[in-house]
Amino acid sequence: MNLTTFQQHCRDKVNQTLSQTIDALPEDSEMLKQAMNYALLIGGKRMRPFLVYAVGSMLSVKEKNLDGPAAAIEAIHAYSLIHDDLPAMDDDNLRRGHPTLHIQFDEATAILAGDALQTMAFEILCDYPLSKELVVKRIELVKIICQASGYNGMCGGQAMDLAATNKQISQQQLQELHGKKTGALIRACVEMAITLSTDITPHNRQQLMNFAKTIGLAFQVQDDILDVTGDSKVLGKPQGSDQAKNKSTYPAMLGLEQAKVYLNELHEQALQALRALPYNTHMLVSFTDFVIHRTY
Ligand code: IPE
Ligand code: IPE
Ligand code: MG
Ligand code: MG
Ligand code: MG
Repeated sequence: MNLTTFQQHCRDKVNQTLSQTIDALPEDSEMLKQAMNYALLIGGKRMRPFLVYAVGSMLSVKEKNLDGPAAAIEAIHAYSLIHDDLPAMDDDNLRRGHPTLHIQFDEATAILAGDALQTMAFEILCDYPLSKELVVKRIELVKIICQASGYNGMCGGQAMDLAATNKQISQQQLQELHGKKTGALIRACVEMAITLSTDITPHNRQQLMNFAKTIGLAFQVQDDILDVTGDSKVLGKPQGSDQAKNKSTYPAMLGLEQAKVYLNELHEQALQALRALPYNTHMLVSFTDFVIHRTY
């Protein structure tokens, strides 16, 4: 299977789990339900679910055991985007080519939809059918997403991002900030897949986590670069948002050309981590190329 076919497959799988979960909600808070549906299903590259499925299948984890983690991480990601776009945070009006959730609905609904999607992620993890021998791992999956989403992960990183706005920070601090706000959820995808595999050596686990760490950072460096070089129509979000708000980003810190040089270094590091693995890594190699060269 090539990258595009597998990406489509992962998108179909995760969309199916997410729409079933939303459809099962009663209609008593209709606007909130519509907002959650909007945040989850109007688009998105589904990179995080892809990573869960790609790493999991590389490690011979049955696909049905990956459906819960893939949907749960996407629900957390969707929540993080809704809150990231709020006026109190990045104050953006376009997401995935559509009005941001607080514009399409209202701010209170956006806050609540984020909250409800966050808890929905944990409900999915608690409820999805898991092979008998893996049921004992459920609590580990929950813990991985908790850690990746909260103070030590995405939320902590978002707080650092806000604190670094209109400020000069060191490159070390920027790396830490990106590693938390974006890297943590990406690492969690790989970690959940590893957790569900039954025979992985500590060395291979370490190499895969090195890959996850590098690709997570590269993902946000390219996101920063696209804020400068991208096209709002292709990006589906406003180009120039970081510059307008004086955000701490790699292009702002290093200049655009050096940020691209750094991205290429991360590309090479990610490929090196994959080369050290005794598995068929062709899907992850293609994915790495996609992350580095993407235009949206
Ligand atoms: C955007 O993530 C936010 C970041 C962490 C950079 P994505 O680029 O994965 O957004 P979607 O899901 O494809 O819209
Ligand atoms: C967002 O980073 C990271 C999140 C935790 C959502 P950005 O603020 O750069 O993401 P975009 O560019 O709005 O998608
Ligand atoms: Mg932001
Ligand atoms: Mg933003
Ligand atoms: Mg950005």
